Amino acid sequence: MAEDILFVDDEDFILDIVEAIFEQEGIPVLTARSGEEALGIVKTHEIAVLVSDHHMPGMMGLDLLSRVKTISPDTVKILVTGFADLDTAMEAINRAEVFRFIVKPWENTHLVELVKDALRRYRLIKSIVRGDEATMLSLVRALELKDSYTKGHSERVAQYATAIARKLDLPGETVKAIQYGSWLHDCGKIGVSESILNYEGPLDDAEIHVMRNHPLWGADVARQARLTETVVNIVLSHHERFDGKGYPAGLTDGEIPLEARIVAVADIYDALITERPYRKAYDRDKAQEMLVSMKGNVLDPGLVDVFCDILSRENSSSGSVQ
Ligand SMILES: [Fe+2]
Ligand SMILES: [Fe+2]
Repeated sequence: MAEDILFVDDEDFILDIVEAIFEQEGIPVLTARSGEEALGIVKTHEIAVLVSDHHMPGMMGLDLLSRVKTISPDTVKILVTGFADLDTAMEAINRAEVFRFIVKPWENTHLVELVKDALRRYRLIKSIVRGDEATMLSLVRALELKDSYTKGHSERVAQYATAIARKLDLPGETVKAIQYGSWLHDCGKIGVSESILNYEGPLDDAEIHVMRNHPLWGADVARQARLTETVVNIVLSHHERFDGKGYPAGLTDGEIPLEARIVAVADIYDALITERPYRKAYDRDKAQEMLVSMKGNVLDPGLVDVFCDILSRENSSSGSVQ
């Protein structure tokens, strides 16, 4: 399957530079000098990633990207902007029309990393659509490798969360959705370390921005991969808190979908029992104690009870949920 990358810029020298940078990386790219020319290419090629300049005579970059959204919905889109266009670019990201933007003049390494992340996102979506779980998991693992503290996190979360779901006798399709949602809950972190996140400009604190947006960006991946509403809800709401102080929507108890409340218990437990950059791992008893202290504020109290019950049974039979 061809996975073409298309760059659009009205200035020849920019396209020459881009071609040279990506040639060095062994990544071939297609180029177009206008929005109109790019549309012609999108209609005849499978474009995985489209990188377009915003300021071009004729069709503006953002107009091109929203037209591509209709013609080729799976194409991952990156907008190249000047400083003056930052508001436009942020709005485009928030409307989920654009994966990320990059400001001219870019650092070559940033551009390459961003395009590689866009390609990962494209492959992740395609693997989900094909039902190719092996590729999907290998992409999730590759994403976790960016942060050594989260290695294996998504799969462990899936194990804990599906154990809770089975204990609750939820239907098989819901258990499956919980497995997928757990695997993908942090996939909105694809591409967060480069481009806008390292951008030292008039954005809010970059880390808070990532924290608050990865559920939204992840839900967008799940939607684009045509996953069920249950999976989308898990990804979208895994950082909501029972007392309404979570994000992105600040939902409270019953407003948070049950599946997302289940994954939140699993996610927090796994975070506690693994080492983080700022602290050592807690042992299992201490982690369980901390879960109990989160009953009713962070976590659904009933679900914490169910999970603690599973953990103590596993302990007494000397097995492990893992
Ligand atoms: Fe998360
Ligand atoms: Fe997580």
